[in-house]
Amino acid sequence: MSIRPILETRSAMPTMEGAGVHLHRAFGFQDPTELDPFLLFDDFRNEDPRDYMRGFPWHPHRGIETITYVLAGTVEHGDSLGNTGRLGAGDVQWMTAGSGILHQEMPQGNAKGQMHGFQLWGNLPSSLKMTAPRYQDVKGTEIPEVIDDDGTVVRVVVGSFWGKTGPVDGIAADPQYLDVSVPAGLKKTFKIDTYRRAFAYVFEGSASFADASRPSGVRLEKEVMGREVNIRDMSGDRTLVRFGTGDEVTVQAGPQGVRFLLISGAPIEEPVAWHGPIVMNTEDEIRKAISDLRNGTFIAAQH
Ligand code: FE2
Repeated sequence: MSIRPILETRSAMPTMEGAGVHLHRAFGFQDPTELDPFLLFDDFRNEDPRDYMRGFPWHPHRGIETITYVLAGTVEHGDSLGNTGRLGAGDVQWMTAGSGILHQEMPQGNAKGQMHGFQLWGNLPSSLKMTAPRYQDVKGTEIPEVIDDDGTVVRVVVGSFWGKTGPVDGIAADPQYLDVSVPAGLKKTFKIDTYRRAFAYVFEGSASFADASRPSGVRLEKEVMGREVNIRDMSGDRTLVRFGTGDEVTVQAGPQGVRFLLISGAPIEEPVAWHGPIVMNTEDEIRKAISDLRNGTFIAAQH
């Protein structure tokens, strides 16, 4: 058993995307090796329709997967293949862009004007970058929820955990995407296989995460399981916690409890060439994608 060190904590940064949607970006467009196989994580929780109504009009994707998890409000989507749908509160969409789609994603708030959700980008390995596009739309009611005796609740959005398996399948990055709620004051350990890269995103309440390493400037507070570990306080909203190698994550919930996403996946470890919503292995492949867009062959490229 080894506690994963905390490599970094950071607040998601205010960012504008699409046609003028205010969101907070926890990571993305920086070092793609940091959280390989994941490229980007956006928190699009907003309370004011003016901050999201303009949405994300038609735009392309190639070479990646986008995973949208809605907590409140709805997102209408449509694409160049003729797919349309609406994601509601609790729903998940796993979109494998593969060789290419053009789509739009238009957030609609709920009756209170709230639009809450997250979008994660997963990379595809070179062997699957030009695979056929695929959607997996999952209703919230299909997502298994495990409630532990101590009141901890884990929604298994993707992957397997505590004997339950989420409905999304066939994903190269072997992701595990958990929505975890831990009651006030409770300490809880989650096992995450060593080969995975992992991060947490705290979005309600507060918590302390045990840290196996002891970088300078972080005070040593207590011992956990006979070893010296640091406990770092994660209070407040929209905090990314990036973990290093180990096989477990230990969290102690604050006085209001804590809710966070715990996401991990198998690193792809290939070169990354990144141009906006298109992520390939080489600059030549990026140039090909751009010329496909110009020539109207972006979608046809899959056939
Ligand atoms: Fe998109």
